[in-house]
Amino acid sequence: MTTPPFPAWLAKNPRLDRDAAFGREQQFVINPNGVPELALELGECPAHRVTPLYRLPALAERLGVGEVRVKDESQRFGFGAFKALGGVLAVGNVLSSAVGDATHSSPSFASLLKREHLDVTANHVFTTASSGNHGRSVAAGAKLFGNRCVIFLPKFTSADKEAAIRARGAEVIRIDGDYDTAVAECRKQAAANGWTIISDTSWEGYDAIPRSVMRGYSVLVEEIVQQWPDAPTHVFVQAGVGGLAAAVIGYLWAVLPQRPVSIVVEPASADCWFQSNRAGKPALASGNADTVMGGLACREISPVTWPIIGEAADWFMTIEEDGVLPARRLFAHPLDGDPAVTSGPSGCAGLAGLTRVCTEATAFEALGLDRNARVLLINSEGDLGEPLSD
Ligand SMILES: Cc1ncc(COP(=O)(O)O)c(C=O)c1O
Repeated sequence: MTTPPFPAWLAKNPRLDRDAAFGREQQFVINPNGVPELALELGECPAHRVTPLYRLPALAERLGVGEVRVKDESQRFGFGAFKALGGVLAVGNVLSSAVGDATHSSPSFASLLKREHLDVTANHVFTTASSGNHGRSVAAGAKLFGNRCVIFLPKFTSADKEAAIRARGAEVIRIDGDYDTAVAECRKQAAANGWTIISDTSWEGYDAIPRSVMRGYSVLVEEIVQQWPDAPTHVFVQAGVGGLAAAVIGYLWAVLPQRPVSIVVEPASADCWFQSNRAGKPALASGNADTVMGGLACREISPVTWPIIGEAADWFMTIEEDGVLPARRLFAHPLDGDPAVTSGPSGCAGLAGLTRVCTEATAFEALGLDRNARVLLINSEGDLGEPLSD
């Protein structure tokens, strides 16, 4: 038997062509045009701050790479997750188009916030299925614009996350099943009641709203581009359905002269991207998505993201459940002089991926990591409802 060149939890993208240009198919998924302006517009919102991109030099030294930087989305909007950028914006976009269609004008966000078009907007009811963070963002958007909102939660979502959604005025329907079961129930009830689904995942015939959610995520990537003029050489990005990964990989590909090597990180039981990479097309996860990493607990990818992740992510890897706590602790109690970062189980998954690779020489080499590597991580959530006990 021949030894594989790298461990079984790591797989290369066989379709990869690093010389491929960011083409129309990719631009359909992540359109970089107007994102810097959107980021500037957000800056005018009093509650908004650009989230920090911390340097972790002691960790980089320990891991044998040149630099590690982490974009800390636990500080996004006082909301605690990057998801704040997606759902809120997508709700606003739906209302803006509805007003545009009705009045042949393009209303500003400010006028929607002032509820100047209630005759058109008031009847919209928004809904989504969520493991927690996305639902909170959609609820926040609906509240902001004065609309009713119904969120479908799987069984595993924490009571604190449910409370945070209810606190934003949304109704919550608990499903006795996993995330994908919640998606199915949400679609059924939305169709029966005429509600608008603000989903972060796409399906046949439904991709405009997930694309608008990802456009919101692109704002955090634009911030990174501004914060890091040298740009990363590697990015470890965690994936559930792939919306975050598509925004990160796609936006950096679109705007940088050379895109970084990207590594998509998933829980072993929710490895839908790992399996899709192997199959060469969207495929189900090999496990039942029973993971503490609730935001990543997906059995199916968002198919609209395939032209970016499926075609252009360099590597796919999985992490085990027992990698989560050490990664959270490493963020919370950092090495000498590094800043402390508050993360949740899904937030630290990129770091868990990086440390796994760094403990396996074949993987470290295969990814081209060395003392010149500049590694980007995204702490995609804080510890809402899941505080670290030590
Ligand atoms: C904290 C956190 N990180 C990462 C993800 C993964 O995002 P996506 O499903 O877009 O891949 C999620 C999704 O809910 C999340 O909540």
